Amino acid sequence: MVEEKAAVIILFGGSGDLARRKLYPAMFGLFQRGFLKDRFAVIGTARRPWSDDYYRDIVTNAVKDQPGATVEAAEAFAAHFYYQSHDVTDAAHYITLKELAAKLDDQYHVGGNRLYYMAMAPNFFATIAEHLKSESLLTAEGFNRLVIEKPFGHDYQSAKALNESITATFDEKQIYRIDHYLGKEMAQAILALRFANPLIGAAWNKDHIQNMQITLAEAVGVEERAGYYEGSGAMRDMVQNHVMQLLAYLTMARPQSLTPEAVHAVKGDVFDHLQPYTQEEALANFVRAQYAPAVVDNLTVSGYRDEAGVAKDSLTETFVAGKITVDTPEFAGVPIYVRTGKRLTRKSTQISIVFKPVAHDLFGAQAKSNVLTIYVEPGEGFSLTLNGKALGQSNDLTSEELRFRHDERATKAAPEAYERLIQDALEGNQTNFTRWTELAQTWQFVDAIIAAWHTTTAMPTYPAGTMGPKAASELLARDGNHWVWQPTHVQLAD
Ligand SMILES: NC(=O)c1ccc[n+]([C@@H]2O[C@H](COP(=O)([O-])OP(=O)(O)OC[C@H]3O[C@@H](n4cnc5c(N)ncnc54)[C@H](OP(=O)(O)O)[C@@H]3O)[C@@H](O)[C@H]2O)c1
Repeated sequence: MVEEKAAVIILFGGSGDLARRKLYPAMFGLFQRGFLKDRFAVIGTARRPWSDDYYRDIVTNAVKDQPGATVEAAEAFAAHFYYQSHDVTDAAHYITLKELAAKLDDQYHVGGNRLYYMAMAPNFFATIAEHLKSESLLTAEGFNRLVIEKPFGHDYQSAKALNESITATFDEKQIYRIDHYLGKEMAQAILALRFANPLIGAAWNKDHIQNMQITLAEAVGVEERAGYYEGSGAMRDMVQNHVMQLLAYLTMARPQSLTPEAVHAVKGDVFDHLQPYTQEEALANFVRAQYAPAVVDNLTVSGYRDEAGVAKDSLTETFVAGKITVDTPEFAGVPIYVRTGKRLTRKSTQISIVFKPVAHDLFGAQAKSNVLTIYVEPGEGFSLTLNGKALGQSNDLTSEELRFRHDERATKAAPEAYERLIQDALEGNQTNFTRWTELAQTWQFVDAIIAAWHTTTAMPTYPAGTMGPKAASELLARDGNHWVWQPTHVQLAD
């Protein structure tokens, strides 16, 4: 039996892309499961002058094609939505917002619970937090929680300034920093695989693991996001947050429990042990590159510098590959290779754990390393390669793969990352959100690498549709390793 949660959700950026594509469908999922039921209201704010009715049509359209949706359910859901035209830089608008929130609180018997969701450009986050305090929007009864989207800062200094401005209004226990990778099924499944299987758990350490590989590959290019991406690049957009969070799940010690405190304690220990790089080491251990034009399936694909909104001499990386080490007793010396980029061969987020080969090979050096691959998306599941014996009288070995993929329909029906995260925020569960200390440490780590890159204007390229520059393979070859996932069939869209 699902217990309904009462809240007034104030959404800054109610007309935006994230709200329409992710947040309304996620909230609708919660509505269908009865977690949001009668005692909730959503105030969507943005500058454009919409009416409540117009806004409800937008919301209905955003959710009506969700699995299991009916027009009646979509309309019943949308009836809880209210629109307020609001410029977040104008203090007077917060007074109107406060009055509307108080009215809806009474109407829906909410008891003062507020979720403030910042789904806007990050340069507004601090302004909103300051006004919520100066115009006294926080309630004395019930909870007040802030959900804040990425990117959380542009570097350590800006992240610190942003953190200081939001912590002037909210304390750490009220802040829910989104990294939506933490809400993904297979990110959660890492913990189950590691800690619910003694067979795997016993081998999950430096004695048995030769290397780990984390790949977040996109098939698409920069598309319409050049304005944002030019100032960001793959390191800030993907490595500082998603890659680092996956890395923490792969290398953290077993938490005492799955409570936020216990999980963050062991995650924090990983970030405390990230081995920082000197400038020279950063250049040796991290590779950056940009996609160059290529002809794929008789189609000419633009290079990054030819995309609309990109400078002809841009030094923004669309690809990063690097080697990271975490100096804990369990993992010291285990290379963790990471790569992410746009216009790669195929879209996939996957993790490969390469185990050490047998020390004494009875089979004449035929045995291959066991590889556990976790398919984060698409094709959620995992596989494990084992050495088997070939049929017949010889002692020849064959490499066999045990493979599990979730049923596609079941995956589609499972809550999306945002649905899980909004539910967590409403329940006050911070496990799947990032702490300030984690962000501070990961920003400091990537800042050092970006600073090293800034000492040179050399920007290697890779043809669109490939898995990055040669240097990305050389990075592993130097250690006697190679990328496990080497797709060949090019896919140009996600
Ligand atoms: N889109 C995604 O898939 C995605 C994924 C991950 C993270 N994010 C993050 O989510 C946030 C929102 O992204 P988005 O793609 O939804 O952006 P967006 O489509 O550009 O939406 C921005 C929203 O802010 C409103 N806005 C702009 N200036 C305003 C002002 N002065 N006062 C009040 N409202 C204002 C806009 O409406 P008006 O123009 O009517 O004011 C619009 O509703 C960003 O932090 C982004 O990095 C987005």
